[in-house]
Amino acid sequence: MLEVEVCGMKLKNPLMLASGILGSYASSLNLIAENAGAVVTKSIGLEPREGYRNPAVINLSHGILNAVGLASPGAKNFSEELKKFSKASKLVVSLFGSDSEDFSKLVGCFDMADAFELNLSCPHIEDAGLTIGNDPELVGEIVKAVKSKTSKPVFAKISALSNYLEVAKAAEESGADGIVAINTLKGMAIDIALKKPILSNISGGISGEAIKPIAMRIVWDLFEELNIPIIACGGATTWKDVVEFMLAGARAVQIGSAVFYSQRIFYSLKESLIAYLRREKLDAEDLIGAAHR
Ligand SMILES: Cc1cc2nc3c(=O)[nH]c(=O)nc-3n(C[C@H](O)[C@H](O)[C@H](O)COP(=O)(O)O)c2cc1C
Repeated sequence: MLEVEVCGMKLKNPLMLASGILGSYASSLNLIAENAGAVVTKSIGLEPREGYRNPAVINLSHGILNAVGLASPGAKNFSEELKKFSKASKLVVSLFGSDSEDFSKLVGCFDMADAFELNLSCPHIEDAGLTIGNDPELVGEIVKAVKSKTSKPVFAKISALSNYLEVAKAAEESGADGIVAINTLKGMAIDIALKKPILSNISGGISGEAIKPIAMRIVWDLFEELNIPIIACGGATTWKDVVEFMLAGARAVQIGSAVFYSQRIFYSLKESLIAYLRREKLDAEDLIGAAHR
């Protein structure tokens, strides 16, 4: 009832852990994997990277503002860590780099991955993420390079801050198997007592409930324009959000900020989806894109 197929991968349910959320240690991924269809790791680059100083994450009333700066242990250390992954769900390894050469090297480091997600959309770093994900030609080049190195599914994670239809089409034409939409949007917050920006990086990425309607429209538009699967990401917090994203065209839905409020969220979303699908006499697959028909 809950199973969905995403680019040839059979997921036990349509729920995926979003990148960067609890994703640097196998033990955290293992906890989530019990109730998720797939987990996406923290984005990983070739070399260890420190990221930005604290404060790097702020809890706002309708979401989270972060400028972690892609802190990561580097590909070699991370591939050792991922050997401890339980395999209770599919494992998607998220990669970041500055050019097609970085991404091609990275893909060869993670034999244990069931699929790869290319971070072409982080809004708060200078040499990767959205800086390269804004350029459809470069996105096409990166996707082609990665696809020539792996037969596993490759997802391009795009930003609402780019010309997303153009970028997504370039990724599809270059062989991407799916699109993940969206990453965080750009935002900031000021401490009125200190009279200074709160984040050490001044601005950061805004996620959570506040961005859901933006992600929803993009998933809708991508479903109209593309032939490859779409994975929604952005503000999904309740089972109703998951259903809504699937009706808009998502094959699977990533859960990010909501995990900060409840680590049991995958269990409760899964159980609520079962109850809903039973009541409606539907399978999860029946929901995908149904609002377009
Ligand atoms: C603390 C934090 C760290 C994140 N790190 C990454 C990352 O490493 N790679 C990435 O592609 N997205 C990263 N994201 C973005 C999420 O994967 C997701 O795209 C975004 O938060 C929107 O989903 P949400 O509203 O469900 O949180 C991060 C988000 C947060 C809040």
